[in-house]
Order: sequence, then structure tokens, then C-alpha cells
Amino acid sequence: MNILLTGGAGFIGSHMVDVLRDAGIAVRVIDNLSGGRESNLAHRASDPDLAFERTDIRSLEPESPVFRGVDYVFHFAGIGDTLRGIYHDAIRMKGDSGAHLIGLLERRLDAVVFRSKFAPTPFAARQLINHGHILVNGKKVNIASFRCKVGDVIEVKEKSKQLALVLESQALAERDVPDYIELDGAKMTAKFARIPALSDVPYAVRMEPHLVVEYYSR
Ligand SMILES: NC(=O)c1ccc[n+]([C@@H]2O[C@H](COP(=O)([O-])OP(=O)(O)OC[C@H]3O[C@@H](n4cnc5c(N)ncnc54)[C@H](O)[C@@H]3O)[C@@H](O)[C@H]2O)c1
Repeated sequence: MNILLTGGAGFIGSHMVDVLRDAGIAVRVIDNLSGGRESNLAHRASDPDLAFERTDIRSLEPESPVFRGVDYVFHFAGIGDTLRGIYHDAIRMKGDSGAHLIGLLERRLDAVVFRSKFAPTPFAARQLINHGHILVNGKKVNIASFRCKVGDVIEVKEKSKQLALVLESQALAERDVPDYIELDGAKMTAKFARIPALSDVPYAVRMEPHLVVEYYSR
């Protein structure tokens, strides 16, 4: 039997390679090494029944030669780590990657909902979004990682404005809404006015985005 395993240089993928090879199954690994490392498979470098190809799965066509003779495809390629995904976007942008990282994090819909005090915690903000209580420019968006654009209007759906969670959160005194969000508290609408710089964001702890960039660039 031949298995094609995508993301085989990653955490889950490389362990699956071990399981399959220990069972005597030939494996062909495809990985673009955006997150994983070839060294995760180094202990099997001399294994003749393990092939590694550095390829991006997005470039593959169904008739691609990598699928020839393959019985099954095990698919583990993906961005397993949200922050790493954002890091990759940040380094592709011109200028200070650390600043872009902060900007991209704060553009997430769950961050905007939390900063607007529609929810008491980032976790509650995600839940509010997942359960369909939030509209962006009048349309329901139930993806917490949705990336807001400057000018987007984020609001609590009319029917959800009386939710205890929302009302209690708005009444909390200890958090100020940052000025890159223009909040209309009475209407429960928030306009994402501009992408913030690190110093604009009311983080509870000191953030060092350059360390995050350094960590992921290793
Ligand atoms: N680890 C967990 O606890 C967990 C839990 C739930 C779901 N998942 C999901 O399972 C999958 C694998 O998780 P993981 O922890 O092994 O992540 P990982 O980041 O360690 O591995 C993913 C691998 O996919 C590769 N990859 C990413 N995009 C690719 C592309 N376009 N083409 C080819 N290769 C690509 C990366 O280089 C990496 O080696 C992810 O989609 C993740 O979201 C993981």
C-alpha cells in the first residue's frame, strides 16, 4: 500500500509517518515547510520507503505525478497555529513585521468585538460570533478570525442586543474602548476606524511582537 501524506513535516504528520512506516506502509510526504521542519523526519532519512517532496499542496493538480500509484491520501497540511498564520501574512507586508502582526491581530473580528465591549472576554467574543450574534456591514459573520477592514461597521444583531452577556459587558467599568474603534454604545455598533499601532492597543500585559517574529522566523 502507498500513502500520500500532506503536512508530513509537521507535528501530527510526522508522527503519522512513524506509525505508517512502523506498519510497513510506504509513505510519500508532501510539505511546503511553512510550519514544519524536514528535521522532524531526519530519523528516517535513510528509509527507502519514505519519500519527501517540498511542494505546496495549493500548486497540485489532480493529475499531478505525486498522486501516481497512491492508494490513499492522508491530509494534515494546514496552518495549525493561528499566530503562525498571522506571522506569515505580517512578514509578507512591507515595513515593520512586528507592527503588522499587532495590526493583523487587532483586525480579527473577535478582537474588535472584545475591544468594543460587546463581550467581557476574548473567549466570550468568539462565542458571540460563532453563535451568529454579530453583523459586519449588516451581514452575519460567524467566523472569529474574519479580518476587518478600515471602515467596517461591526454590530450586535438587533435580536441579540438584550443578551445578558452583552449588557453586562457594556456595563463593565474597567475597560475603555480604544480610539481606533468608534463606538456608538446606544446602538451597539462599532466602526473599525483605523489599524492600530502597538501603543494604541490596551494590552493588559507588555507585548513584544518582535519576539514573536523572531520565534517564528527560526
Ligand atoms: N495539533 C493539534 O492539536 C491540532 C488540533 C486540531 C486540529 N489540528 C489541525 O491539524 C493539522 C495539522 O496540525 P499540526 O499540529 O501537525 O500542525 P503543524 O503546523 O505542525 O503541521 C502542518 C504542516 O503542514 C505544512 N503545510 C502548511 N501549509 C501547507 C501547504 N499549503 N502545502 C504543503 N504543506 C503545508 C506545514 O509546513 C506543516 O509541516 C492542522 O490543520 C491543524 O489545524 C491540529
